Amino acid sequence: MAKEIVLSGIRSTGNLHLGNYYGALRNFVRMQDDYDCNFFIADLHALTTNPDPQQLHASVKQILAEYLAAGLDPEKSTIYIQSDIPEVSELYLLLNMHVGIGELMRTASFKDKARKALGIGPATEGADDEAFEHQIIGAETNKRVNAGLLTYPTLMAVDILIQKATKVPVGKDQEQHLELTRRFARRFNSFYGVDLFPEPQNYNFGAAAVKVPGLDGSGKMGKSEGNCIYLIDDPKVLRKKVMRAVTDEGPKEPNQPVSQPVANLFSLMELTSAPEVVAHYRQAYADCSIRYGDLKKQLAEDILAVTTPIRERINDILANEDYLRRVVADGAERARARAAATLAEVRQVMGIRKF
Ligand code: TRP
Repeated sequence: MAKEIVLSGIRSTGNLHLGNYYGALRNFVRMQDDYDCNFFIADLHALTTNPDPQQLHASVKQILAEYLAAGLDPEKSTIYIQSDIPEVSELYLLLNMHVGIGELMRTASFKDKARKALGIGPATEGADDEAFEHQIIGAETNKRVNAGLLTYPTLMAVDILIQKATKVPVGKDQEQHLELTRRFARRFNSFYGVDLFPEPQNYNFGAAAVKVPGLDGSGKMGKSEGNCIYLIDDPKVLRKKVMRAVTDEGPKEPNQPVSQPVANLFSLMELTSAPEVVAHYRQAYADCSIRYGDLKKQLAEDILAVTTPIRERINDILANEDYLRRVVADGAERARARAAATLAEVRQVMGIRKF
């Protein structure tokens, strides 16, 4: 039986941090044996926020190297760059004929990004949508909300539908985009009376889903939170970050409940340290003998044991341009084969025929 098609896109912004690694990447790596996996760098999506060309170029390469270093295997998975598949751009145009500007404007991510582009603050509870829409249409300064931003969900739907993927491992923040993808697929199929696009589902890692907290004592690790440990952090930087992590004054009485910042450090330990190490520090907390400085030193070394081999591979891979070029050329060839087949079906169904 043919393996199910899994697909996920990675926007080419910033570096990979421990949250990306444990939250997503490690699971991608595990899926490679059981599914027909497709992972790509979404550089066209990155263009919606008008990045600096040189930076975009560098970051596509960087992200690619980081994913390969962390275990995505071009022998098992199809790994490609979105803009290498011209069929995606053509289907994006065609699918847009069946997408409403209203439904796009109501997408949460669009509202956020449009506000940013116009330089107005984040939406507040019960915000006046009408005034907001008015601003988008009426803006006639050099601030504008580009059409690419509006049609971001169309492009994402095309990424998925053109490969006929049925499982899409993405985080909660992408749920709405996936819902739109299903709607567009259904709409297209029913408009033309065909069964061309399958409806993709989010791939839930279930029990394997882990939350990776940041070092600032609050919530999860995130780029915009500034509380990240990056895979490429060198030992000096990494140790410094961990030693500076937020804690509390320490337990005053035996078996005291653990505060959030300290619980976060224990969570990071659970991910990276040996079970007996975690048990040792939990016991030390319980009997009030714990010294956070020792815990942090241990934690930093255990994190380094995970990241150091990856960091070294990242640097090796980045230095090997030939290898990188081969990986994406090979990936593009495979991804284009399927994309071209789907596009041909769509053109036929929509009535675009050659004489
Ligand atoms: N929008 C996704 C993100 O911001 C990236 C993405 C683009 C994607 N196309 C995709 C994810 C297709 C899954 C499938 O992270």
